[in-house]
Amino acid sequence: MRACRREPVPYTPIWLMRQAGRYMREYRDVRSKTTFLDLCKTPELAAEVTVTAVERLGVDAAIIFADILLILEPMGIDLEFAAGEGPVIHNPVRRPADVDRLLEIEDVSALEFVNEAIRQTRSALRPDIPLIGFCGAPFTLASYVIEGGGSKNYVHTKRLMYDDNGAWHAMMSLISRGLAKYLNAQIAAGAQAVQLFDSWIGCLGPDDYREFVLPHTRSVIENVTPGVPVIHFGTGTAALLELMREAGGDVIGLDWRVRLDEGWQRVGHDVAVMGNLDPVSLFAKQDSLRKQAKRILDQAGGRSGHIFNLGHGILPETPVENVIALVEMVHEL
Ligand code: CP3
Repeated sequence: MRACRREPVPYTPIWLMRQAGRYMREYRDVRSKTTFLDLCKTPELAAEVTVTAVERLGVDAAIIFADILLILEPMGIDLEFAAGEGPVIHNPVRRPADVDRLLEIEDVSALEFVNEAIRQTRSALRPDIPLIGFCGAPFTLASYVIEGGGSKNYVHTKRLMYDDNGAWHAMMSLISRGLAKYLNAQIAAGAQAVQLFDSWIGCLGPDDYREFVLPHTRSVIENVTPGVPVIHFGTGTAALLELMREAGGDVIGLDWRVRLDEGWQRVGHDVAVMGNLDPVSLFAKQDSLRKQAKRILDQAGGRSGHIFNLGHGILPETPVENVIALVEMVHEL
């Protein structure tokens, strides 16, 4: 929490995106007895996997176990996590008329299981470990709603964006209004910081980001409960960093395709940064991993306001012993 506010800290704090996941045996054990969606919707289990990851790894923060796509269900989206395929949406939005059938999130009672998981996690966690709430950013969520799943070229998304400005902005505003309510409910339940995941924003150039995305992401961030740090994360963002900063956030996520020192200079030293280790470094020998971690810490240069993390989520095959070693290295270095 101090690093989010750029206050001095005794050592660089570290947590890892997707720290509770399939690379960890304890997670696979819980997951083998249920589906991914049911795991997310069972607060006792969501709290258990959240807390287990923190204790096993020795990281300095917890992130609530959930998914960015959960908010789509109460918007009328038919969501499935198909084995081996990732998320599938059976009723994607393709034409402007489809936008009209998206439901406004009036209150977040349909997502109450996330708030309950946050309450249970908060009471089970060590008191000095902050709990991070999160949501997808408007563009990344819109891309799932329109494509119906993951995508390589975002053809449907960009076509709607370019051809139907009115429908695009209406959809992005509707998503953004829901997201602000959702984050504030997570905060009311006990989340101490919140993160927006704009995982696929790197498919846009700067002019499109400014016109089609920035106002919406900004409106979500501006509506977050004052005083709660916001982490604004994306990948493939080397061309977008200044604009992401303009959209807002107390902490800007940096992936590994940009040097940490250059990225920080570009977003400005009056915000904190999070990152920026290549997740694949965790597959290398521990000596090599240490060199990569040290380079990032050297580039942070002892400046207040660096939260160590990967540049994107942990990959499923990652050796857990290297993740534990990384946490120790960062604390030691
Ligand atoms: O970080 C954490 O430990 C908290 C949990 C978390 C999950 N998803 C659990 C999860 C968080 C923060 C997310 C965010 C999320 N979900 C993002 C943004 C982060 C990123 O990686 O870019 C995205 C794009 C999603 C959508 C999503 N959910 C995808 C594409 C998939 C399939 C991925 C795959 O590798 O199969 C998921 C499923 C998912 N979300 C899993 C986990 C642990 C795996 C599900 C399983 O157990 O089978």
